[in-house]
Amino acid sequence: MADIIEQKPKTMLTGFQPTGVITLGNYLGAVQNCVKYQKDYNSIFFIADLHSLTVRREAAELRQASMSFYAQLLACGINPADALLFFQSHVPEVSELQWILNCYAYVGEMTRMTQFKDKSAKHQDNINMGLLDYPVLMACDILIYQSDLVPVGVDQKQHLELTRNIAERFNNLYGDVFKVPEPYIAPAGAKIFSLQEPTAKMSKSDPDENATISIIDDEPTILRKFKRAVTDSGNEIVMREDKPGISNLITIYSCVTGKSVADVEKEFAGSGYGNFKIAVGEAVAAKFAPIRSEVAKYLADKAYIQQVAKESADKARYIAMKTLRKVQKKIGLVQF
Ligand code: TRP
Repeated sequence: MADIIEQKPKTMLTGFQPTGVITLGNYLGAVQNCVKYQKDYNSIFFIADLHSLTVRREAAELRQASMSFYAQLLACGINPADALLFFQSHVPEVSELQWILNCYAYVGEMTRMTQFKDKSAKHQDNINMGLLDYPVLMACDILIYQSDLVPVGVDQKQHLELTRNIAERFNNLYGDVFKVPEPYIAPAGAKIFSLQEPTAKMSKSDPDENATISIIDDEPTILRKFKRAVTDSGNEIVMREDKPGISNLITIYSCVTGKSVADVEKEFAGSGYGNFKIAVGEAVAAKFAPIRSEVAKYLADKAYIQQVAKESADKARYIAMKTLRKVQKKIGLVQF
């Protein structure tokens, strides 16, 4: 494993909640960019197992999902030679920092978080403290590693703003302790929509299984889902606002093949929706076939996952500990 800690000028960090299987939307929107840019930064990626505790889960299921998500990220191309990849809970310094930063976050700003409001409306039977405090834990993830760039989806933008506010608040009191991170809008990050309702984001929690594609779907499944994809009236294959279905398929094809939208439109001019859907399905199936077999390979090799995850966590802890010690000193905790 390369010694990637603090070697590059900038640090990129992001966390993934271990729920379900990585979808085509997650892959093209986020994971692919992490893979593409992992060499350019000190890259820190982790499975946000602590964040996922805000929703009640079976212990065995969470454990299995966390391991599976780890294997999926490896299969997608996150390379332990270029990036740290570990389990959030293996760096206890983050949780220690969380208590401290809780004392620098205001209840008012926490209850104003959109995601807190949405989630507490949805899960009225379990509005736990973790749900309210979730963004402070996320701030700790980001700040403890002195991250510069944090690639996140729009739904996490507000949490990043909060992170910046907490960091600035703390720095104003104690000097430059934390780096104030920038949101990172990936240059080629694509937004992928549901195949059944192309104005809604592709979401792994969608109950309609024809709406999403996952990286471990097999070829017949992928082809079938694309054949059933909802398209628009007309028959032209062009990217246009009034054609959300075809536009989504064009985006997918373009991202998967690396061809420009203009080239895709040219390639399929006059060929009809049916043929185009098959071509998109085949391209996606070809892209995911090797990933699918890699997932199985990594899942069968728990010893390897254990080894790389532990090495990564040890390196992450080294950075985390430095920040935590500095914080403890600044605020006046006794240190011997
Ligand atoms: N909250 C993020 C999500 O649900 C996951 C996450 C946890 C994260 N900690 C993070 C993302 C730190 C970026 C940075 O997607």
